[in-house]
Amino acid sequence: MVDQTESNDKGCPFGTAASAGAEHGCPVTDPTAMAEAFDAFEGPYQLDPAEALRWSRDQLPVFYAPKLGYWVVSRYDDIKAVFRDPILFSPRNVLEKITPATSEAQEILKGYDYAMARTMVNEDEPAHMERRRALLDHFMPENLEQQQDMIRRLTREKIDAFIDSGRVDLIDGMLYEVPLLVALHFLGVPEDEIATLKTFSVAHSVNTWGKPSDQKQIEVAHDVGRFWQYAGEIIEKMRAEPEGTGWMHHTIRMNAEIPEVVTDSYVHSMMMAIIVAAHETTSLASANMFKTLLTHPDAWNDICADPSLIPNAVEECLRYAGSIVAWRRQTTAPTTLNDVDLPKGAKLLIVQASGNQDERHFEAADTFDIYRDNAVDHLTFGYGAHQCMGKNIGRMEMRIFLEEVTRRLPHLRLSEQEFDYLPNTSFRGPDELWVEWEPVQNPERTNPNAIHPRRTFAVGPPARRDIARKVRIAEVRQEADGILGLTIEDAQGRPLPKWTAGSHIELCVGAYDRKYSLCGAPEDDSYRVAILREELGRGGSRHIHETLCAGAEIRMRGPSNLFKLDETAPHVVLIAGGIGITPILAMADRLKALGQSYALHYAGRSKSTMAFLDRVTRDHGARLSLYAGNEGDRMDLPDMVAGLEDAAQIYACGPKGLLNALETLTKDLPEGTFHFEHFSTSATGIDPEDEQAFEAELTESGLVVKVGTDTTLLDAIMAAGIDVACDCREGLCGSCEVAVVEGEIDHRDMVLTRAERAESNRMMTCCSRSKNGTRIKLA
Ligand code: HEM
Ligand code: FES
Repeated sequence: MVDQTESNDKGCPFGTAASAGAEHGCPVTDPTAMAEAFDAFEGPYQLDPAEALRWSRDQLPVFYAPKLGYWVVSRYDDIKAVFRDPILFSPRNVLEKITPATSEAQEILKGYDYAMARTMVNEDEPAHMERRRALLDHFMPENLEQQQDMIRRLTREKIDAFIDSGRVDLIDGMLYEVPLLVALHFLGVPEDEIATLKTFSVAHSVNTWGKPSDQKQIEVAHDVGRFWQYAGEIIEKMRAEPEGTGWMHHTIRMNAEIPEVVTDSYVHSMMMAIIVAAHETTSLASANMFKTLLTHPDAWNDICADPSLIPNAVEECLRYAGSIVAWRRQTTAPTTLNDVDLPKGAKLLIVQASGNQDERHFEAADTFDIYRDNAVDHLTFGYGAHQCMGKNIGRMEMRIFLEEVTRRLPHLRLSEQEFDYLPNTSFRGPDELWVEWEPVQNPERTNPNAIHPRRTFAVGPPARRDIARKVRIAEVRQEADGILGLTIEDAQGRPLPKWTAGSHIELCVGAYDRKYSLCGAPEDDSYRVAILREELGRGGSRHIHETLCAGAEIRMRGPSNLFKLDETAPHVVLIAGGIGITPILAMADRLKALGQSYALHYAGRSKSTMAFLDRVTRDHGARLSLYAGNEGDRMDLPDMVAGLEDAAQIYACGPKGLLNALETLTKDLPEGTFHFEHFSTSATGIDPEDEQAFEAELTESGLVVKVGTDTTLLDAIMAAGIDVACDCREGLCGSCEVAVVEGEIDHRDMVLTRAERAESNRMMTCCSRSKNGTRIKLA
């Protein structure tokens, strides 16, 4: 498959210009026909899987694709829901050949005693979690730290070899071999096996996720068979070295120790699968990363100037152009997904690349933005119980590649070329990536320091403090008594990302990070916010009022949208109290532009304290009801709620009292009737009203941390400066386990077995708590 597109402008893959800019998806596509025509091995899906499924995200998010025999799932939330439930959506078909083997290929494989069985990624519960936990230790951040030097050394050797050449295929020159060598080091497999392994891993990918012709199947079957036998031989060699280091040595020792958990067939199958899991995923992701960044020169230049942007840029590359674009699951019982009935045994192709560009989760989802503050939410590493165990190694490699190349070759550019991709459902990345530069401009020729790393990175997801763009205050206005209006523009004059009604940004001013809703026009290149001076607040708004002036440069996160407007509701009642007008005004503007039915209620203490009065009156006069408290006007909330038409929705922003009153009044109305703004920082899923605070004593450090009703034990320990590994943060993956010395635990995870819970000697810190608020002691 050849990709000649170098532009980041997405268009309808079917040539229907209408779809690209359509507000509600492509108006000319017939979803049933699109589902019938869906082909995972050629055409638009192979060119750009996210774009190819835009119609599906908009119109038919779960559909049966008869050509593939799979149900395709394209929306972020649905994909996450599938990942979240490994019992109902079993991973057993993850490594199944998506194109069944011909009888001839089957015979060939038999001849090699090929018996690929369950590994980790395709194992069902409870066996999977038991095995994952037994083998998780090597992947923990504290044990990965030591791999950094090895990755740096291998990367530098490769760059040294081509830096004076002026042109290289980055894949051949670096991105293929380094991840393979890193994988072998991590696994403990001798490096001299590399040449043989190289031929085999592509065969495994084609065999599992590709559509080889009958003739190709024969060739591939021989390679896969040889790979299988070879994997067995490596294991035998490793068994002869009982003291060997590396994850596969550990696995072999665990096989001897707990053979019922780490079985013989697992060890052999894993030896073959892990090479692909650790190598191709990272090679392809790195190639996609360089291709993406070099086609977005602003982002590339920003990283060259400031390497602290690298960790989040890597996440954004994994979101925008990940190497695993689709994964599989199979239902174990009849169920429904987004209102679509699925029979037992239904095979699902869950397209992470599509979820990663779902507007319902990511603002301006098809824009590449290294400052996106939720890029790390991408699904490229999967999610939940099976989430990639090696993700922090993959990240580490990609960060080091990027740090080394942006420092030593900041003047790198993509060569003119066509990109070839191996046609398959799941793995995506170009076969070659030609880049060029002028060696005379290599910084290290004139600056010997350019050879030294400017930055090392902590293992794990990017630090939030590093994710912020530089912006400038273009204008400061008085919007009303005590309310300051700011216009904010990109510090380098670039357009700020597009946003949708209900979005907010976070301004980082001095020691304060504060969130404010956007209230300008989404098509503008700059943003507008309005900030109420809160005399009794924690000081952020006072600081902003007193210090910010036009021309000031600050940092900003976002935009993000936690207050999304359902643009299809037949009628919307918008309710704003005081400064709550900001998101509500953006919603009113949007509904008006769409020609939707809405009413706007805006209340304040007095007209002089109500921002944007002129604008709301001018633009929404006919729909507007104003309530100035000092003139005796009050909103009649019970009346508003009682008069609500069928399927109408309420969106409100304002003081807590207003929101609480509306929550009570709407509690018996259908789910999804009432929406309000909530600036939550983490998705803890905790309801402070139902929780008890407790204390945890950390015996190793002697610290006692207090866990409030609105926080998790994990967050409390991390806030005390102690790192705990975590992935899912909702009790699914097992990575945040700690040992319990004393105390009764309220276990809320999906990881521990009933017997383990009864032993009360371990817990998952992201979700489980102390029982009855009593103090617990942790190792
Ligand atoms: C699982 C992607 C690098 C080891 C997975 C899964 C995906 C994935 C999509 C399945 C997740 C699920 O079912 O929820 C990636 C990507 C990588 C990468 C995109 C690089 C950018 C690595 C590396 C290693 C590794 C470097 C090992 C050194 C594993 C293992 C599993 C896994 C052991 C199985 C986990 C389980 O089933 O519990 N990976 N991976 N991966 N990955 Fe990775
Ligand atoms: Fe996944 Fe706690 S179980 S982070």
